[in-house]
Order: sequence, then C-alpha cells, then structure tokens
Amino acid sequence: MSELLVFRAPRIEAEIRVPGDKSMSHRAVLLSAISNGTCVIRGFLPSEDCQRTVNAMREFGIAIDQPEETTLVVHGQRGSLHPPKHPIDCGNSGTLMRLLSGLAATQPFETKLVVHGQRGSLHPPKHPIDCGNSGTLMRLLSGLAATQPFETKLIGDASLSSRPMRRVIEPLSLMGATIRATEPKGTAPLVIRGGQLRPIQYEMPVASAQVKSAILFASLKASGKTVVVEPFATRDHTERMMSYFLVRSQRQKVGQGFAISLYGGQIPESRDFAVPGDISSAAFWLVAAAAQEDSNLLVRDVGLNQTRTGILSVLLRMGAKVREVIEDCDQVEPRGEVQIQGGRLRGTTIGGDEVPNVIDEIPILAVAGALAQGKTVIRDAKELRVKETDRLAAISTNLTAMGVEVMELEDGLEIYGGSPLLGARVKSYGDHRIAMAFAIAGMFADKETVIEDTECIATSYPAFEEQLQRFLTPDENPPTPVINPAEALEKN
Ligand code: S3P
Repeated sequence: MSELLVFRAPRIEAEIRVPGDKSMSHRAVLLSAISNGTCVIRGFLPSEDCQRTVNAMREFGIAIDQPEETTLVVHGQRGSLHPPKHPIDCGNSGTLMRLLSGLAATQPFETKLVVHGQRGSLHPPKHPIDCGNSGTLMRLLSGLAATQPFETKLIGDASLSSRPMRRVIEPLSLMGATIRATEPKGTAPLVIRGGQLRPIQYEMPVASAQVKSAILFASLKASGKTVVVEPFATRDHTERMMSYFLVRSQRQKVGQGFAISLYGGQIPESRDFAVPGDISSAAFWLVAAAAQEDSNLLVRDVGLNQTRTGILSVLLRMGAKVREVIEDCDQVEPRGEVQIQGGRLRGTTIGGDEVPNVIDEIPILAVAGALAQGKTVIRDAKELRVKETDRLAAISTNLTAMGVEVMELEDGLEIYGGSPLLGARVKSYGDHRIAMAFAIAGMFADKETVIEDTECIATSYPAFEEQLQRFLTPDENPPTPVINPAEALEKN
C-alpha cells in the first residue's frame, strides 16, 4: 500500500497545467464510439477510471488506437511543447534537469485517442465489463447498454459495488430495458438487456449528471421525445458534447434546474474533440495557493464550463483574488486560464443549488475552510455520503485528526477554521479526492502528514504526486514563474 509524505510547503509562485477533464474524457470516448466514423480525442485523461472506459468500449467491439506520444520540441509557440517520445537525458547537467522540470510542469497532457465509431451498434461483450472505481462509467454505460439487444454485465470494485444504482435502474427500466441488480440493495453487479426503448418524461429525484447522462444516452435509441428534468443544474457536458456531435436536443430552465429534451433515432456525427484540463484537479492547487499569503498560481488551459467553476466563486467569497479568462469556446466547452493570488481566507457557507457545481470540490473546500478564519458551513451535501467513500465522515475524521474542530451534520459539515493544523497520519479511505485534499492540508501542517493508501489517486490524477513534489521542493524543481499578463504587456 503506498503512502504520501507531506510537509509544510513554501509559498507557491508558479504556472502549471493539469491533465484532461475526467467527465469529458469518459463522454468523448462513449460518444465517439457510437458516432458514424473516426474521431480523434486529444488531451484525453490517461487515468485508471478513463482507461476503463476505453477498455469497456473495446469489449463492445469498438476499435480504439492509442498512438505513441510524440517528441518534445520547442517551437516558440507561446511555450507550447510536444510530449517527449523517450526519456530526456540531461547528462550531468543539473541546470538542464532543473530548468526542464519546471518547464515540463507547464506543458499540456497530450494523450491522443482515435476512436472508430460504429453508429451505435455494439458487439455483445465476451466478459463482464469491469468499471473499476468509476461511478461515471457504470452509470453512463448503463444508459448505453440499455440501447443494445443483448446482455451486458457491469461489475466494479468494492467501493463501486456499494454505491446506489437504483437511480439509473428506475428510469432505464421505465424506458423498457431489463436491468437486474444482483444484490438486494440495488447495487452492482448489474445485468442489462436492452433494445428498442420508449421515450419517457422523467423528473430526477437527485441532481445527478451521471443519471441525466445515462438517460440521454439511452434516449438516442428511444422511439420519440425523452424529457429529463433535473432539480438543480448539474454539469452539462453530455448535452454540450452531443450538440457538438450534431445531436439535436433542447435545454430549458425549469425551477432551479433544466429540462433536457431529445428525440431518439439520432446518430452522433463523428468529430474530433480536444479535452481541456480538469478544473476538479486544478482545485487542489487553487486552494493551496489561495490559502497562503503572497502565493500566485496560474493554471493554463483548464475547462471553465460554468456548471463546474463554483469553486472559483467560493474562493472569491473566502477572500482569494481570482482572475478567470475564457480564451476559447470553439468546441462548445469554454477553456482558458485561472490565476489565484492567496491571502487570509475567511469562512463561508456552501449549500442549495451551489452544491452540484462544487460536488467534487467539497473535500478540498473543507480543507480551505479549516485554513480560513471563522466558521465554514457546508449543507445540502448528503450525496457526499455515497461517493467513492462517505466523504462527510472521511473529511470529519481526518480534519479532527489534524486538530480542527468539526461537526459532522447529516447533510454537511461545520468547520471552525483558523487554528494551526497538526501533521497526522490519515487515511484516504480508497478515495482519490480525500487523499489529494489531505495532501494539501499537509502542506499547511506543523509537522509531517502521512496519507495512507494513495494508489487511488491514479483513478483521476496520476501525475498528482509529481506536481506535489514540485511545490514541496521548488529549489530542486524550479517552477515556471507566472508572467503577469499586465506586466508583460507593459514590457512589449
Ligand atoms: C460526474 C458527475 C458527478 C461527479 C462525478 C462525475 C459526471 O456525480 O460527482 O465525479 O461525470 O457526470 P453525480 O452526477 O452523481 O453527482
């Protein structure tokens, strides 16, 4: 079992990139696979969860090539380099190695996939499909499997096998698919047999982008108009990406959420897609910079879809200086840069319709709350109890171990921040976001912090530890300094 050792970090002054967005990487593979031709996906997140999606579609008979990465070439294009094919031999040059380390940290994560779409007709898989730890994959794939006239069995690891699946079983069964949860509690393994589906009008009892997406994938093969209504707005990557693949749908505001309607019988048109950096991965570094006076962090080329950027509003409310610039919206997903300047944070309240927008950032925002002066209250976040682990319990136990006063509520947390954090030995509970959030807490603690069982980090951010080491030891790994755009303009 691997552990992560973290100690107090110096202030951050750096420019970085983060790997591709996990939600978009899953969706790009699934949509390409059912499209009418070949699609190239750039910036795909090469993490365990997303690799499971590639393997799953291969099980369904879809050809997916993962060509070799290309060569590292400096071409004077505002600092964009190509990924290296071989290790870079720095000979005995310490300077080259140190400078290149800083430079490498700013480069995009160029993982390219070529998916050969089969117009939605998949082959019966020979084996059960292992979704590993990925709730997104299991739920989205349920929607896709529901469109196929054969049996598909979906399995997952112990964590995934304890997560609620009735939320997808119910709407997909209403559409006419036969789904058997082999466990009485309605959890995985799931056995799905689908085919011709009927359209439904469905109001989701929970605000879940995964459930919404499962229904939208299934509705592509329904004989009419399906309408899915979400109680609060959730991430809209499926709708955006479907529209980019020329699938027509409508999105209408209803109460605090949206109603999405889609006519069945549409085949996505093959398109190439570039995945921006994942704001949920950037979130860890954004908080690390926000909570430290005089830190200055620039994250380049990150997804800035407004159903995902709630963390920026929260950090702004807490007193950080935040600059967000959307640079490109070509492929329907806004992307750009975020700059954070740290300061003394103050507590805040997070709840209501803001929760789906920060659903994956609550562990790291709880750490921000512990570092802020005063009380931070998180409410309406019961869904956190059914994520990769019970995140409310995990956050509360770990913050308490680090000397923070916390009260665990049924649907949230009250955190009394501002006292010094104590280094401690804490568990990840097999949950990548708990592991990473507490690595950041360790950067502010008086003594060493050990996070146990950190293999799970690879499900979403395999390069996390490498980036962490750069921040912990900037003398050995000199960062790329932030070039303040205003100053750069003055100099020119
Ligand atoms: C995701 C949706 C969210 C989020 C998960 C990824 C997605 O889950 O927590 O990490 O890609 O659709 P819910 O939709 O179940 O809240």
